[in-house]
Amino acid sequence: MAKERTLTILKPDCVRKGLIGEVTKRIQEAGFDILAMKMTRLTKDTAGGFYAVHKERPFYDELCEFMSSGACVPMILEKENAIADFRELIGATNPDEADEGTIRADFADSVGENIIHGSDSVENGKIEASYFFAESEVVANQA
Ligand code: PPS
Repeated sequence: MAKERTLTILKPDCVRKGLIGEVTKRIQEAGFDILAMKMTRLTKDTAGGFYAVHKERPFYDELCEFMSSGACVPMILEKENAIADFRELIGATNPDEADEGTIRADFADSVGENIIHGSDSVENGKIEASYFFAESEVVANQA
């Protein structure tokens, strides 16, 4: 199976709850390589750009407000079948619907404050990765 990349963001609630280490450990134990990682803080405008696809949805403003409410930690991850495997690892968007043992089931409070983002396709993963990282920041050869 071919290796894929996905873009994740440890969201402001993850950082505020002191869960960066725990969540990153789960990601690595699940076999994902971290190719890029940083701590940053989105503005409402940059969060709005990242989530532009949801612009018409009723929760858009709340989502942008939340995503700019504190520091977050975007990462580019690589693994075979990364998109699907990562979404399985994090669980459903709504933590009440997330399978037991997933990151959102264990740590998230609500559909909005749900700890972590994962790209929904390889194509969107590339676009999302370029939102946070220059090509020169991606460490593809880890050896
Ligand atoms: S999906 O897979 O795109 O259809 O998921 P969806 O349920 O539409 O949610 C997309 C992102 O919006 C966030 N969200 C919300 N934020 C605030 N309030 C409400 N009610 C709400 N509903 C959904 C959700 O956390 C998703 O964020 P990401 O980062 O994409 O997981």
